[in-house]
Amino acid sequence: MTLNLPKPLLNLVLPLALPENTDFLGKMLGKALLNDGSGGVIYLQGELGAGKTSLVRALLRSCGVEGRIKSPSYALLETYKVSSLYFYHLDFYRFKNPQEWQEAGFRDLFHLNAVVLIEWPEKAEDLLPQPDLNIHLIYEGDTRIAELDAYTQRGVACINYLNQSSKS
Ligand SMILES: Nc1ncnc2c1ncn2[C@@H]1O[C@H](COP(=O)(O)OP(=O)(O)OP(=O)(O)O)[C@@H](O)[C@H]1O
Ligand SMILES: [Mg+2]
Repeated sequence: MTLNLPKPLLNLVLPLALPENTDFLGKMLGKALLNDGSGGVIYLQGELGAGKTSLVRALLRSCGVEGRIKSPSYALLETYKVSSLYFYHLDFYRFKNPQEWQEAGFRDLFHLNAVVLIEWPEKAEDLLPQPDLNIHLIYEGDTRIAELDAYTQRGVACINYLNQSSKS
C-alpha cells in the first residue's frame, strides 16, 4: 500500500509544533486554492490522528464553508460548494482493495472547478488521478512535521503562496 509518485517539482518541509500550526497551514492552503480558483487534487497522508482532517477543516473554513465539517471516515465523502468551487473531502481508510473508490463512483468528482482532498490516498494505490500536491503529516513526538510535495504548476503555486505568506 504505497504510492508511486514521480519526483516532485518543489518540496517544502514545515514543523508544526502545535495544533494551531496545522490549522494555520490548512488556512493558508485554502487561501492559495481560492487565489487560483480552478480547483486541484490534494493527497493527505499520515498515520491515524496525524492531523489530516484537522488540516482540511481549517482549509474549508478559510474558503468560507460554514456549519459542521464532519470527518468523512464513515460516509467516505463530504461535499461542499462555495460560489463556483466544489470541495470533495474523501477518506479511503476503510477501503479493502484499490478499486473500491471507482466502484463508489468517485471518479466523477475529479472535474474542473473541484478541489478534491483525499485522506489515505495510498489505499487506492496508483489508480487515482495524480495530485497537484501531496501533504504528508509525520509524528514528531507530540508535534507534527508537514512535508509538502508539488507535482504540477498548480501545486508549485500553492507552495510559493505558503512561502510568501510565511515571509510577510
Ligand atoms: N501540530 C500538531 N501537534 C500536535 N497535535 C496536533 C497537531 N496538529 C493536529 N493535532 C491534533 O492531532 C489530532 C488530529 O486528528 P485528525 O482527526 O485531524 O487526524 P487524522 O489524520 O484525520 O486521522 P484519521 O487517519 O483517523 O482520519 C487532533 O486531536 C489535533 O488537535
Ligand atoms: Mg481523518
